[in-house]
Amino acid sequence: MISKKMTNALNLQMNREFFNARLYLSMAAYFESINMPGAAGWMMAQAQEETGHAMRLYAHLRERGARILLTAIDAPPTKWASPLAAFEAAYEHECKVSREFDEHMALAQSEKDYATTIFLQWFVTEQVEEEASADEIVQRIKMIGDHKGSLFMLDRALGERKADD
Ligand code: FEO
Repeated sequence: MISKKMTNALNLQMNREFFNARLYLSMAAYFESINMPGAAGWMMAQAQEETGHAMRLYAHLRERGARILLTAIDAPPTKWASPLAAFEAAYEHECKVSREFDEHMALAQSEKDYATTIFLQWFVTEQVEEEASADEIVQRIKMIGDHKGSLFMLDRALGERKADD
């Protein structure tokens, strides 16, 4: 039996993950607007993954017999100062999401909710990857600086990403 407190935390996170999907979709739209279709595709794949994260939480709540509640979702930002600023925002956002999952994990462990602890382990591992992939792109854009040809090449490489989960 999942507690009310754990149910509320996972419902909150499910709704946050739907926000995350819209945040990355908004970043995709921004990259379309500055003619970087590869980065837009990367962000689109990320948005799909975030919807997948929300649905994993939905499924866990359903399997545990908890009441699932969809709430209002804030509008995401719509523009960023530069490609670097957008990927830096993505990286910082993922660090925040990691802290959110750490808190959920701490709650699950304090409640001896081992089913939720095991369920959340996937997200804790996923967050390591999410932070690393955004940070890698930040570092690559910093190296490129103002070199338009290299930014074009990076955009092409980013466009090869496919959504995993
Ligand atoms: Fe689902 Fe990128 O956090």
